[in-house]
Amino acid sequence: MENQKIVIGNLKTVMNINDVSSYLKTINKEIVNKQVVICPTNIYIPYFLKNGYSVGLQDIFINEDGPYTGEVTPNQAISMGIKYAIIGHSERRTHLNEPDEIINKKVISAVQSNMQVILCVGETLEEKQMLKTDVVLRRQLVNALNGLNIEMLHNVTIAYEPVWAIGTDNVASNKEIERTTNYIKMIVHQNRGYKNMRVIYGGSVNDKNIKELNKIKNISGFLVGGAAADSEKFLTIINEVVVNQ
Ligand code: 13P
Repeated sequence: MENQKIVIGNLKTVMNINDVSSYLKTINKEIVNKQVVICPTNIYIPYFLKNGYSVGLQDIFINEDGPYTGEVTPNQAISMGIKYAIIGHSERRTHLNEPDEIINKKVISAVQSNMQVILCVGETLEEKQMLKTDVVLRRQLVNALNGLNIEMLHNVTIAYEPVWAIGTDNVASNKEIERTTNYIKMIVHQNRGYKNMRVIYGGSVNDKNIKELNKIKNISGFLVGGAAADSEKFLTIINEVVVNQ
């Protein structure tokens, strides 16, 4: 199971309840029990659970349990059968100034509750142009994984999501993704002594480019945004990556 590829759909905040209803009618039940995780906006999660889908949160709180207005804790997630949480998405880093230290606390609280963490890292366009990609990734990884032992790292997957590729149709090249993935694995090995870190790619993955992206040998799947909110496109991606593997 661990070596199988995974497809994670991050539905962000793009759907209202009418969109969710039509989505649930068109998304194929075949994907239940496959390596597919859907991360809806929190308020819509019960509809997805009721239909049998494997569900993830788009964020999680820094403590496992307790009274924190407006937040969702790992204990609450687990009690609903929610196993996955995206942490450190660039939209949160950018719009909420979420710092590495908070992301680190979220990662620890989630893995301590036995959740599977999808930790997002990635450089901005400016950082890429200034040739700072490696420095930025190293900083994000070292800080976010601070204090995690090997056992905890088993429950983490790194999502390499270059910020310049998110929602832009400007997908990273296979060569760039392969190189960066190797770099991420190397940093985690060097820094935490964990050799086999799983890395997935996100950023303008769609039904048209998935065949080509799926040729990349060292990644373990994809984190899909815009195309995941379109059931037809999402099913094409899923068929390419997990159904036919
Ligand atoms: P897009 O697929 O829309 O570029 O979004 C990627 C993303 O942010 C997934 O978390």
